[in-house]
Amino acid sequence: MEDICIYNGGEAISRIVFGQKLSGVTGAFAHCTGSAQTLPVYMIYDRNVEAFASEAEAVLSGEPGLKFCGKYGVEASEENKTMASVLGMNGWLLENGADRNAMILAIGGGITTDMAGFAASIYKRGVRFAYIPTTLLSQVDAAIGGKTGVNYDSYKNMIGVIRQPEFTFICPEVLDTLPVRDFLSGAAELVKSFLIEDGGWYRRSVDFLSRFHEAADKPAFLKTGRAELLELIHAADSVKAGVVSRDQFETGERRKLNLGHTFAHAIEKNAREAGDDITHGEAVSMGMVMAARLSTRAGLAEKGFPEALETDFRNAGLPVDCPYPVQALVDAMSKDKKAENGTIHFVLLSAPGSVAIYDMTASHAAEMLAI
Ligand code: GLY
Repeated sequence: MEDICIYNGGEAISRIVFGQKLSGVTGAFAHCTGSAQTLPVYMIYDRNVEAFASEAEAVLSGEPGLKFCGKYGVEASEENKTMASVLGMNGWLLENGADRNAMILAIGGGITTDMAGFAASIYKRGVRFAYIPTTLLSQVDAAIGGKTGVNYDSYKNMIGVIRQPEFTFICPEVLDTLPVRDFLSGAAELVKSFLIEDGGWYRRSVDFLSRFHEAADKPAFLKTGRAELLELIHAADSVKAGVVSRDQFETGERRKLNLGHTFAHAIEKNAREAGDDITHGEAVSMGMVMAARLSTRAGLAEKGFPEALETDFRNAGLPVDCPYPVQALVDAMSKDKKAENGTIHFVLLSAPGSVAIYDMTASHAAEMLAI
């Protein structure tokens, strides 16, 4: 399967490499060991995926041109996604003699890659880094596009930088052991990519997920459907890489990737305060349905489109009903870090592959949704 690159002014600045097996990561390193020097690799991994970290360590330790310099396990939770954790990583790098030639390899989901990417970006004013994402969500979103960072108080991803990993290695094998709920959380972001740019992939993704939803033995379904899943991930990453190449620093088009997210962040905030358990992907799924409803109310989408989307999502096992009243979301939306002078860039959706950014206040959006 062909690599995908993220470009800046015609120059490839990050490569997404695909392989069936974790051991294929050596192929990804082939792109960065061009110098005569041996590349010192420092691994930062989520302790929940210790087995993958050990497997990658074994593979990389025997690889000519690389020097495996040790690994550092982290607890990957939103509570632990802090500056203190990043400084812990920096301290470990320093104690273990990492110099400016070091390459940090992060293995884990989005929390781990966000933190390790940020730690690498500030260590000695920035060293190289690469990712092996181990969740569907990080394979199609978090580990692609260079957003790194940590939470601050109750504000998610408030401190960070945009800096691209040298490569992201995508391997569906690591998804075999992912809990179903986490898989579906990533599936919402996968479908989001195809609602932004379709090319026939929206229907293919919903069909795949509907079969997954119906399958009695989901791990077995994922094993037999691995090639199909990899194609979907590849297509979703192509969409994201294209958008990021055109607008790396999110001054315009990249905002489209926030489809469903303004509502989702408000839903997640309400859930935290109420002690409810809602994953990011579940909130994004509900948020995309709300964006479709708002589009209809704003006269952009045809009547019946939100209902059709809801049917697709239900069949795919994705949640559609927000458990909180719209009014409860207004306050949180106004405080969203992406709000500018009270105005929010809402991403509206009129059909799969047809999204547009509309600026309005949260209360105006709420009024329209309440009609
Ligand atoms: N997750 C949205 C973005 O990377 O821009």
